[in-house]
Amino acid sequence: MSTQEKLISHVMKEEPVGCRNKVTVVGVGMVGMASAISVLLKDLCDELALVDVMEDKLKGEAMDLQHGALFLKTHKIVADKDYSVTANSKVVVVTAGARQQEGESRLNLVQRNVNIFKFIIPNIVKYSPNCILLVVSNPVDILTYVAWKLSGFPRHRVIGSGTNLDSARFRHLMGEKFHLHPSSCHGWIVGEHGDSSVAVWSGVNIAGVSLQTLNPNMGADGDSENWKELHKKVVDGAYEVIKLKGYTSWAIGMSVADLVESIVKNLHKVHPVSTLVQGMHGVKDEVFLSIPCVLGNSGLTDVIHMTLKPEEEKQLLLHTYHELVNQLLPLFHLSSSQCLSSSHFSTRCWFLLFASTVTLPDFFLVCFPDLRFALAPASTSVFVSFDGHQICR
Ligand SMILES: NC(=O)c1ccc[n+]([C@@H]2O[C@H](COP(=O)([O-])OP(=O)(O)OC[C@H]3O[C@@H](n4cnc5c(N)ncnc54)[C@H](O)[C@@H]3O)[C@@H](O)[C@H]2O)c1
Repeated sequence: MSTQEKLISHVMKEEPVGCRNKVTVVGVGMVGMASAISVLLKDLCDELALVDVMEDKLKGEAMDLQHGALFLKTHKIVADKDYSVTANSKVVVVTAGARQQEGESRLNLVQRNVNIFKFIIPNIVKYSPNCILLVVSNPVDILTYVAWKLSGFPRHRVIGSGTNLDSARFRHLMGEKFHLHPSSCHGWIVGEHGDSSVAVWSGVNIAGVSLQTLNPNMGADGDSENWKELHKKVVDGAYEVIKLKGYTSWAIGMSVADLVESIVKNLHKVHPVSTLVQGMHGVKDEVFLSIPCVLGNSGLTDVIHMTLKPEEEKQLLLHTYHELVNQLLPLFHLSSSQCLSSSHFSTRCWFLLFASTVTLPDFFLVCFPDLRFALAPASTSVFVSFDGHQICR
């Protein structure tokens, strides 16, 4: 008789129960591991799966977490480069891919990370066809769109972490200014996660008291209190942290856990996350941006209609696309004189960047006359009228 047999007598043979809240994290880099530990410390899953292409690092990270099992209430932590380990996940957090180097824009990562997603997303779908995809890799708005297209999932099950982090940074800075806890400081950063995000100054409040009512210049150039600086600090925040420590991790990890919590606990909490905004705030095309969204067990169930001031809505539309397109241009070896002066376009023509120049064989990047852009599937048979020329793919 073994020690185990001498010690334990089974009363009944357990039926396998399967797990209800399995969370997978793809990519065990700085962001992936900060997300994993935050999810574990909040007791959000009954099983955690990790996937990466770097086998030794993956094994090491998994072992390191397993050694802390005594302090956790997640009894199963598994890791493998084979996606079968992710089977039946409730939420899959995608953090894999290249990250910004010092001074580098998030948008610079698009080509590398789209290629990585082409491998990752079909594998996730194969093993967890009913999961909720939470995209974190940058540029997060574009990659959430790509994940949505590659997965074939309904839009409510593909969510980008978006400006949940930017809004947290903003509320932290507000809290510092007033010596209040960030949870008592209400402010929403929407639009693109990154350089062209939009601060909704009209909604900034503490205990329901609108700060813009107290200071009508809030957020404007002529504001003697220079509140605009607060938003600039949000935009510069990641660059500064990257300059100081090489990467960002803790705040995005906690922000991911905050989103996972709302999903697995069916909280119906409102978060600024990236979703398809087609038909909202004047956006006509398939574009993902952050707006306030309700998260629960089924994923993203509702969006909140923000009552934006006209200048805020304009910022959300134009500023966002303008910044995005301007930063994307060098990537595609185009100068603004070649394609971006809106006077070059008639209202109905649109400009297409060729797949062959951008190593996105399955997608086109499309710039619209009013500087909006979208990724279109390669199967779209499009030709472009540009300054009277017809350009075919
Ligand atoms: N959305 C946000 O708010 C936010 C914040 C911070 C960072 N990020 C982004 O998160 C991503 C990860 O950042 P990081 O600092 O963890 O980078 P990192 O370099 O530390 O880790 C990336 C990991 O991805 C893995 N990887 C690469 N290709 C893979 C593949 N095909 N399958 C599985 N794993 C793969 C790498 O092996 C590595 O372990 C970056 O794109 C970064 O820009 C997003």
